[in-house]
Amino acid sequence: MDLIRRPRRLRSNEVIRKMVRENHVRVEDLIYPMFIMPGENKAVEVPSMPGVYNYSLDEFAKALDEVVKLGIPAVLLFGIPEHKDSTGTGAYIENGIVQEAVRIAKQKYPELYVITDVCLCEYTDHGHCGIIKDGEILNDQTLELLAKTAVSQAKAGADMVAPSDMMDGRVAAIRKALDKEDFSHIPIMAYSAKFASGYYGPFREAAGSTPQFGDRRTYQMDPPNANEAMLETALDVEEGADIIIVKPALAYGDITYRTKQRFGLPVAAYNVSAEYAMVKAAAQKGWIDEERIVMESLVSMKRAGADLIITYHALDAAKWLSK
Ligand code: PBG
Ligand code: ZN
Repeated sequence: MDLIRRPRRLRSNEVIRKMVRENHVRVEDLIYPMFIMPGENKAVEVPSMPGVYNYSLDEFAKALDEVVKLGIPAVLLFGIPEHKDSTGTGAYIENGIVQEAVRIAKQKYPELYVITDVCLCEYTDHGHCGIIKDGEILNDQTLELLAKTAVSQAKAGADMVAPSDMMDGRVAAIRKALDKEDFSHIPIMAYSAKFASGYYGPFREAAGSTPQFGDRRTYQMDPPNANEAMLETALDVEEGADIIIVKPALAYGDITYRTKQRFGLPVAAYNVSAEYAMVKAAAQKGWIDEERIVMESLVSMKRAGADLIITYHALDAAKWLSK
């Protein structure tokens, strides 16, 4: 056969495969989400997320040792407050659980980049991401509380804030409030294309944030919509978002790709809780090769255009990358 093009020539051994490899997952790309709860001496494993824990503050401080040792540059913090109420007060009080966690993390590891989730659902007794009147989630009244939350986190020392609520206008509201309080240097990583997804189930178990009535479809996006994701992102970019999150990651690679192509800003893919849970469950049954599956999934996010990857697999991935 006189074939001129033989792509297999560049696949013949691992040396040449490595040389022509187009995409790489680096430890610098990883952001590790962590859950902080009240109490002492507690590390409670999330039943549907083996290897992921709800930490009390002291245990959180200890858990950071491994994160830092592995070279993971950033954590994304979620809080489970002592008390929940209708307006999510725990999200924006000075000594809220996340604010305390930020102080501890920055004191122990000043170089660790600490990102905070800005939302109300972990702090409201009804489990919605905004405040409620007559069964409706109020948009503009919620913005004020989100802005307050972001400012209180910045005051505690957060390096970056990440609003995940999907209210209209929140990036602008947060930007304005941060700037007014002399936090114009704090970037916003916006969950711009966040879909109303079944893949958040295990997270809600971890954070105790399942909506007590209805669902999140009036604010999170409808899964079949891609053009609308471009609209949401365009608005967030206009309002001042510095980094764009696409969430979930695996079923939405097309959105990551389009977002990167169209806006060029740094993009973060959020490899969400059920994506993690499914891999863990199958691995525990011995049905899949966990390392192979995880690394293949993570590199798919890079191939789609993600710069950063938010993943519960971060500790494992960092270990695998360094061997
Ligand atoms: C809260 C929030 C959620 C996630 C991140 N921030 C849950 C939700 O919107 O219900 C999901 C993360 C995951 O599933 O890993 N606004
Ligand atoms: Zn929320």
